[in-house]
Order: sequence, then structure tokens, then C-alpha cells
Amino acid sequence: MRYRLLELLACPRCREPFALETFELSLDGHGEEEVEQGLLKSACGAWFPIVDGVPVILPNALNIYSQFAERFRDRLPPWQFSAEEIAQFEREKKKTQESFGFEWTIYSAVHEERDRGYALEGDLTPEFFRGKLVLDAGCGYARHSRVVQEFGAEVVGLDLSVAVRNARRLTRDNPKIHIVQGDLFAPPFPHETFDLVYSWGVLHHTPDPRRAFEGLVDFVKEGGDISVKIYRKRPAPAAVVESLIRKVTLRLPLKTLYNLAYLCVPVNWFYWKLGRHIPGVRQAILGVVKVDPNWRIAHIDTFDWYHPQYQFHFPMEEVVSWFEEKGLEQITGAESKGVRGHKGVRRADLQLAR
Ligand SMILES: C[S@@+](CC[C@H](N)C(=O)[O-])C[C@H]1O[C@@H](n2cnc3c(N)ncnc32)[C@H](O)[C@@H]1O
Ligand SMILES: [Zn+2]
Repeated sequence: MRYRLLELLACPRCREPFALETFELSLDGHGEEEVEQGLLKSACGAWFPIVDGVPVILPNALNIYSQFAERFRDRLPPWQFSAEEIAQFEREKKKTQESFGFEWTIYSAVHEERDRGYALEGDLTPEFFRGKLVLDAGCGYARHSRVVQEFGAEVVGLDLSVAVRNARRLTRDNPKIHIVQGDLFAPPFPHETFDLVYSWGVLHHTPDPRRAFEGLVDFVKEGGDISVKIYRKRPAPAAVVESLIRKVTLRLPLKTLYNLAYLCVPVNWFYWKLGRHIPGVRQAILGVVKVDPNWRIAHIDTFDWYHPQYQFHFPMEEVVSWFEEKGLEQITGAESKGVRGHKGVRRADLQLAR
């Protein structure tokens, strides 16, 4: 964790800045000092660990990083979250934390062209990002954080899962990318911090996508933007088949499901050779597996379709109505792509500025 990140973080309980206690330092590839192990302490009494260079702002931080808790046990204050608070958090989010942690630990391939295309959804251009401070909410292994930084932004990637470890590995030597393990229902930043809050393929995997979206809007500066990619409503037959298959897959151990997803590889091959040209067969294949000219992507996308605990789909009009009801302006987006909205400057602030 770079010292710069300390300026951007705030305690999710009281919104005050953190004080830093350092246990171990390291040097990045440019010889810049980073906090490798340490604590972030809030005036309200809350504290959170920094584990292997990543702040972990979660109620179950010490359960995930028990080796850290053991190694520094003489230097740690009592944990502020009650057993009940931790259990409640884990009831809602542990499965998501684990399954995405598994997915983005086993897979963290970078495909520059593709990642760039995704990052620009929501009608964005590379110029749009230049000089901006961006929150990549639900960053996974930070494939989009990297692209957005290359466009000229400074980025904070936030994710619930241990995917942050791969995210940090992939972005370690970039001083304009910061990685935090945290929950987008309790983002550890002051309100109105970011020029752009960007969230690609995340909100539909939370227990309450609309509440997650509304919460994120609070972290956008006045005059800033929010851009989100959310699964769209699928036609009824496909949605029914998907929910039936998911009833089974959600009960399987992750490794078993990951291996089973390899069954899509020959189907994917057939799809590209012939199946996509045969009406009916095309729809049948697209109803049960993900296809891609790259078989590895087809495999990981198929696994990605069947492991998440929460998987909601929304019609475009509904997503747009969330933006409107939060008072966002200049809403743009296309079916199956990202949607973006702008947070106007409040009238009172305009008058003061005159
Ligand atoms: C489909 S992945 C997308 C990752 C990344 N945006 C990308 O496109 O590569 C969804 C990500 O959302 C994260 N996530 C789910 N619920 C979250 C929450 N409550 N807070 C933060 N991240 C969350 C998961 O850990 C996972 O990495
Ligand atoms: Zn606090």
C-alpha cells in the first residue's frame, strides 16, 4: 500500500481518515516505499489490517488472513466486530467472496484489446479518463483498472475477494493503481471522492443490486460520473434453463464445477465450426454455455455463469430508472452494454461559486 492511498481512504464507520501503523515496509520496482504489513486505525476505535500490501476493510478480515492475525497477535488491538456482525456479513457474502476468489486466483489472463473494449462500454472514450480519479468497484484481478490507468486515470480497485492478491501482483509497479479489499456496501472512502465510479459486471452479483448502485452514487463527486455494466433481462426460456442448471451448480464444490465447465470446450468448438449456422442449435448452445473463439475464455465464462451465489438480471429501462431516481443526468447506454450517468453540480453550490 502506497502512502498516497492513505489520503483517499476513510473509515467506513465514521468516515474519518485513518492513522497508519506500520509493521513492515517493502520497495516496489521503482524503489518507492510501500507498507507491506500494518494497521489502519480510526478515531472511532475501528481498525483494519494491511496484509501483504493490501488494506482489508472487512468484518471478516482476520478470518480470511488468520496467518496475519497469528503472526502479529501481540500487536493487534481487540477486533471491533462482534461474532454476530461477522456471522451476518458472512451469511450474505462469504460464498461470493470465496467463489470469485477462486475464479480470479486460478484465472488472471490479460487480453489488452478485449479489456480495453469492455472498459470503454457506457459510451466512454480513452480521453474521458485522462487525469481522473476512478473507483473500479468490484475490480476482480484489476484487468479494467490497468486499462483505465493506461488511459491516464489514477485508479482505486476495490474487491470483496482474495482476487485482490492477483490484482496487486499485476499492478504492483504502477504508482497510479491502488488495491483495496472491501465491500461496496461499505466503501472505505469519504463521500464524493471520485470523478468516475466504474463497476463492470459486479452489482448483479450482490444481494441487493439497486441498493449497491445507490450507495456507490454517494462516492461520485459533483460533476462526476458513474458507469455500470449490469446483466440484462434474458428471454424467458433461457432464464428458466439457467435457473434450473444453477440450482445444481450452486451445490457443487467449486473445483468440481470448474472441471465440469470444461465440457463446454467441445461444444464451443462445434459452435464455431458449424453450430452457429444452424437455427435452433445455435440458441440451444447459447442457452447453456458461453462461447468464444478463445476456448479458455469460453471455459472461464461458462464457469463464471454458474458459480455466483447471486445473479440478477434487469431490463434496461429499470437500470435507467435507478439513474433517474438518483437525480443523475445525461444518461447514456445501449442494450447489453454499460450505462453511464452524470452527477450535476448542486444549485446551491453554483450560487456560492458565483
Ligand atoms: C464478474 S466479476 C467482475 C470483476 C471485474 N470487474 C472484471 O470485469 O474483471 C465480479 C466481481 O465483483 C466482486 N464483488 C461481488 N460482490 C462484491 C461486494 N459486495 N463488494 C466488492 N466486490 C464485490 C467479486 O468479488 C468479483 O471479483
Ligand atoms: Zn471510524
